Amino acid sequence: MMKNLQSIFKTKFSQVTDWKVETVNKFCFSIVFEASFRTLYGRDPGADGYSVTDAIGDKFLKFDAKFSYLAANIPIELLGETKEIRKELIHFFKSENMAKWLGISEVIQDRKNMFEMYEELGDYDKAAHHFAFMWASLGNTIPATFWAMYYLLRDPEALAVVRDEIDHLLQSTGQEKGPGFNIRLTREQLDNLVYLEDTVGQESAINESLRMCSSSMNIRLTKEDFILKLEGNLEVNLRKGDYIAIYPPILHMDPEVYQDPEQYKFDRYVENGKKKTAFYKQEKKLKHFLMPFGSGASKCPGRFFAVNEIKLCLVLLLSYFDMELLEKKSVGLDKSRIGLGICLPDSDVTFRYKLKL
Ligand code: HEM
Repeated sequence: MMKNLQSIFKTKFSQVTDWKVETVNKFCFSIVFEASFRTLYGRDPGADGYSVTDAIGDKFLKFDAKFSYLAANIPIELLGETKEIRKELIHFFKSENMAKWLGISEVIQDRKNMFEMYEELGDYDKAAHHFAFMWASLGNTIPATFWAMYYLLRDPEALAVVRDEIDHLLQSTGQEKGPGFNIRLTREQLDNLVYLEDTVGQESAINESLRMCSSSMNIRLTKEDFILKLEGNLEVNLRKGDYIAIYPPILHMDPEVYQDPEQYKFDRYVENGKKKTAFYKQEKKLKHFLMPFGSGASKCPGRFFAVNEIKLCLVLLLSYFDMELLEKKSVGLDKSRIGLGICLPDSDVTFRYKLKL
């Protein structure tokens, strides 16, 4: 991911020595889509300057815009061109195409190998599974990067602290910020950025933005009749076959757990320079206080990769660029995605950036 980000940054930005104006969401999409895709699926080496964003970026966005309708079981035939777009996206992952891609990641290679063991899966089915994984891996990480960047840019104090932390890290590892595009950081070094995020889990500016923008509903099917015991002696009788939906935003926005929950506080998960893990409700310490990635056996397997992707992006952006928002407006959550993961922003916001020289 680091190598891919560096190469994308070099191609896209080495000439940006004067202020350039863009919108934050579009900017995040163009970086994270390309870098994540290359990291997971590799790259078609055939064409020089090939960009997967040029090849399928627009189609992905169009499909993603209709995702909430599909999740609500609206027949795809009623969603205009969505069916055709989905077919084209799936075709992109057909084995004759994937066979050309170099530098495929271990997880995708393992999935490819596993699909080969199932004779009943046709080429189209396998491609569809690859597309589904691609959506799972990019559909949330891109808006999560948007929110992490947007909240930081909006908060000068947070930006200064995080910049300072990154500067220290670069100094201590003998590296220079600025336009060289050759910063290298290990996962261990990334882990030490406590304000940006602590990998074990719960600190940081990234976690705070995940708290504010994630609305991933955890849906569970009741396997046998039982009584669900809740706080305050409340009990719910559940029958086999009932669905239960756990809705983390209720927790994330609970003023008893998080003081001023509507406010972005970049250091909410830091206490005395260390990660803060003690959050309380009615004086009881909570086992789960941040759940953007679900819970239990189906908890997101990409969560460490996702957070490290966001972290790398922010480290490189803050190391290479001066940046500032050009609009004071407040961007809200696109309500149509409530329950389905990281909410998309309801509008985009302009910012300007230029290389630190
Ligand atoms: C900020 C980014 C991400 C968020 C917020 C997120 C969130 C989630 C959530 C809430 C679930 C459902 C968990 C449950 O039902 O308990 C999930 C499942 C999943 N995620 Fe992620 N995810 C992110 C990034 C990724 C990435 C980068 C990958 C792959 C590289 C990925 C792969 C998956 C897969 C394969 C599942 C299905 C797991 C299963 O059903 O067992 N996700 N994710």
